[in-house]
Amino acid sequence: MDYQVIIPAAGSGKRMGAGHNKLFLKLGKRPIILHTMDVFTADPNCRKVILVIQHNDEEYFKEILEDVDHSPKIQLVYGGNERQDSVYNGLKAAYADGIILVHDGARPFIRLKTISQLVRSAVESGAAIAAVPVKDTIKKAVGHEVVETVERSSLWQVQTPQAFRFSVLLNAHEQARNECFLGTDEASLVERTSHTVKIVESDYDNIKLTTPEDLYFAEAIMEKRKR
Ligand code: C5P
Repeated sequence: MDYQVIIPAAGSGKRMGAGHNKLFLKLGKRPIILHTMDVFTADPNCRKVILVIQHNDEEYFKEILEDVDHSPKIQLVYGGNERQDSVYNGLKAAYADGIILVHDGARPFIRLKTISQLVRSAVESGAAIAAVPVKDTIKKAVGHEVVETVERSSLWQVQTPQAFRFSVLLNAHEQARNECFLGTDEASLVERTSHTVKIVESDYDNIKLTTPEDLYFAEAIMEKRKR
């Protein structure tokens, strides 16, 4: 089943502290963003890769994309102030039908198997997200004082990709914009439209590279995958 993907890559990466877009940092010999895109550019079922970037990064992106196979299916789009704005700009550049995925540029270890499961689930249900069961005990606190231990068995740690029927995602984004709601993922926007969101169990190594220590984990995951 065909799909297209929006990859938001227009962040500043402040929490990584690299002084530039963290997606340009290298994992092995190549920038993080190229690792993230590999699985999509190589997948014949992926008909379009919409890469959302900042104006300032455009030249560097163009340079690194020169050596990418299947580059004709990559389209560059400018991002916005918030991740949600960046994804919305990506949506406007997408084909207005079928299944659309949103996958953070900062998650370079996504597997094709999970993508296929998400696409199948979105075809059936309209909305599906990758997630893993929470491993740690989670507590709610006010300041540094615990107020509640949250029941763990129903908690999931949510990742990307998140997959949707195009109309489901577009409606959710438009409603959120009209109501000035800012979410941290697409599913939170879709949930507000009362549409069901299904979970596809993913892998713990589909990590998001956010802070400097994540790079150590990333190098270790890369090494393991080489073997
Ligand atoms: O900062 P964080 O890692 O949570 O961002 C998730 C993804 O969203 C990153 O790939 C980042 O480049 C992207 N992003 C974006 N536009 C923004 C902010 C973040 O495309 N305004």
